[in-house]
Amino acid sequence: MAQRPSILILNGPNLNMLGTREPHIYGAETLADVQALCLAEGERLGLEIDFRQSNHEGELVTWIQQARGVRSAILLNAGAYTHTSVAILDALTAVDLPVIEVHLSNIFRREPFRHHSYVSMAARGVICGLGSHGYVLALQAADRLLRAGTRP
Ligand code: DQA
Repeated sequence: MAQRPSILILNGPNLNMLGTREPHIYGAETLADVQALCLAEGERLGLEIDFRQSNHEGELVTWIQQARGVRSAILLNAGAYTHTSVAILDALTAVDLPVIEVHLSNIFRREPFRHHSYVSMAARGVICGLGSHGYVLALQAADRLLRAGTRP
């Protein structure tokens, strides 16, 4: 049987605090709950899921680099690095994989500094404001892109 497509799901700084961190914005679910959702959806879609979190920009950059030629797509919630990190943008551009950007909150309803995303410049699509369900939708989108051969 052919290998299952492998999806790297990366979470940036402070997402390890989900559940206790500003629950009125990010909800009551923990990152482990989000991971469980992703694993279940991956199972349903026949995708292998590697779900990670780091508070360190360089570690995220390294993980993105390592995805080249190994993973089929990247789902990324870069947290605050979304709005600041040219290094993450450069890494995403360098690996040449379909990228889907995810945010739990609707960044466009929040402070103006959250309205700009460096990640978006490398993303095929962006899902924000739908909480953890956004990760499920992003996996479905990745699956669809991969089945279609990744190009629109
Ligand atoms: C976030 C939105 C970012 O602006 C913020 O810095 C985060 C989480 C989200 O998932 O809504 O850490 O990416």
